[in-house]
Amino acid sequence: MEKTVSESRIEQVYQIRPEHLNGAGRLFGGKLMEWIDELAALVGIRHSQHNVITASVDNLRFIRGAYQSDLIVLIGRITYVGNTSMEVRVDTYIESFEGIRKPINRAYLTLVAVDKAGNPVKVPGLIVQTESERAEWEAGIRRCSMRRQRKEEGF
Ligand SMILES: CC(C)(COP(=O)(O)OP(=O)(O)OC[C@H]1O[C@@H](n2cnc3c(N)ncnc32)[C@H](O)[C@@H]1OP(=O)(O)O)[C@@H](O)C(=O)NCCC(=O)NCCS
Repeated sequence: MEKTVSESRIEQVYQIRPEHLNGAGRLFGGKLMEWIDELAALVGIRHSQHNVITASVDNLRFIRGAYQSDLIVLIGRITYVGNTSMEVRVDTYIESFEGIRKPINRAYLTLVAVDKAGNPVKVPGLIVQTESERAEWEAGIRRCSMRRQRKEEGF
């Protein structure tokens, strides 16, 4: 059965603690990558109703740093689905205590749904309802074909 984007959308908030920092006193990039990967997987699990594995992460762009006590908001949503794979976009923001959000990262991940034996399984289709969801879907088709080409060329 097909599902909408909003059915699997997830928003998660963290407050940066000392153990999240790197030697330069900023949010450690690897910690942010963990949060992004985890959130994308949860979106994929909700959409597919199966466990998922991360096939690729791309367009991981660090726009600005974040510091202790900052609030970090991650929003994950499905942008495109193939046969067994799902593309999830994760946007990360710093949110001020007044509620103003500034983007610090955007990433696209490809998750593959797997059965109990670890074999890829078909995922539900995606119902795109808004103009921006439609635009993401169209762009997702192009990104998917670029990934296929990169895989074939081995980089
Ligand atoms: C992801 C994986 C299952 C793909 O295996 P494969 O033999 O290429 O399988 P398939 O050709 O059947 O591809 C399955 C889907 O993955 C997609 N895929 C495969 N490699 C990909 C890549 N590098 N980037 C994006 N999507 C990819 C395919 O396009 C296909 O999507 P579709 O069914 O929607 O068309 C396999 O490479 C794997 O197990 N990788 C390790 C994943 C992992 O352990 N992640 C780390 C921690 S969670």
